[in-house]
Amino acid sequence: MCTDFTFSIIKPNAVRTGKTGPILARINEGGFEISAMRMTRMTNPQAESFYSVHRGKPFYEGLIEFMTSGPVVVMILKHENAVNEFRKLIGKTDPEQAESGTIRKIFGVSVQMNAVHGSDSVENAEREANFFFAGFDRY
Ligand code: RTP
Ligand code: MG
Repeated sequence: MCTDFTFSIIKPNAVRTGKTGPILARINEGGFEISAMRMTRMTNPQAESFYSVHRGKPFYEGLIEFMTSGPVVVMILKHENAVNEFRKLIGKTDPEQAESGTIRKIFGVSVQMNAVHGSDSVENAEREANFFFAGFDRY
């Protein structure tokens, strides 16, 4: 089983505006191997479960509405120290504060519409990968 992986989502705004290809190119250029990927549209219960850690926060309702507003691309990415390396590649949550050259700096348009999600810990990467790709270790 691969342990050095992370889970990512290309968010609805980025998919809607044709940024899927350019974002995938940067992920590949960053040295990540895509080991599973598909396009899907999150249902309300799915988004509520995926983001349950944020329930009650001021941005929660808007986040659920946004993440269910259109198709997303979900994927499992392999790399050494994948969780931390991918967080570096995408940059800070707020695209305005993200370092230049990062995916959120280039493709993000607001804190909410920040183009991509990346797991924030190895435990969450495992939980999130299983959420969309049951039995993912076979990839
Ligand atoms: P993500 O989970 O999407 O990788 O982002 P993150 O760890 O950098 O940020 P997190 O705190 O987990 O927040 C999840 C997503 O919620 C939206 N958000 N909006 N309006 C706001 O203040 C606010 N704060 C967070 C963003 O879409 C963020 O990515
Ligand atoms: Mg997060």
